[in-house]
Amino acid sequence: MKKCHITFQLNGMTTEVLVNPNQTLVRMLREDLGLTGTKYGCGEGDCGSCTVLFDGEPVNSCLVLAAQVDGHRVTTIEGVADGDKLHPLQTSFIEKGAIQCGFCTPGMILSAKALLEKQPDPSELEVRTAISGNLCRCTGYQKIVEAIMATGKSACGCSTTDEKKCCGED
Ligand code: FES
Ligand code: FES
Repeated sequence: MKKCHITFQLNGMTTEVLVNPNQTLVRMLREDLGLTGTKYGCGEGDCGSCTVLFDGEPVNSCLVLAAQVDGHRVTTIEGVADGDKLHPLQTSFIEKGAIQCGFCTPGMILSAKALLEKQPDPSELEVRTAISGNLCRCTGYQKIVEAIMATGKSACGCSTTDEKKCCGED
């Protein structure tokens, strides 16, 4: 099978890969690029464990062909921290005890990141809706929701929820 040469931004780095035309994005990330933070669960778009950001939007990478990301931006869980500095969401997940297993957490964090970039102070309903495609089959969602909401309020480092006064701006 003739391979496709693709070039895309992966976690902020220009990346070139040769892929089979029928290869899925999750397989390319895990098997060709060694980014195993993206988990493979159902393979059918049901569980959300393979969630990555595609041009900033959460997608199930088991349903996206690797060739489709040519010319686009992909963010995986490996690209969420800033070097050794964890993203506020990651810190909040740790502090709130929301890291329950390594299987669903990467996808939860990426879905939450996409939400907070659009809506920095989301309601509980908005948080629950944003992670509705990320299934947890063990202990439940309460701590995850709390961690995301806490990050939303503290993401910029100030404590106010009043947008106009946020970060000292009047
Ligand atoms: S592995 Fe992609 S949604 Fe389950
Ligand atoms: S599946 Fe990860 S905590 Fe439930």
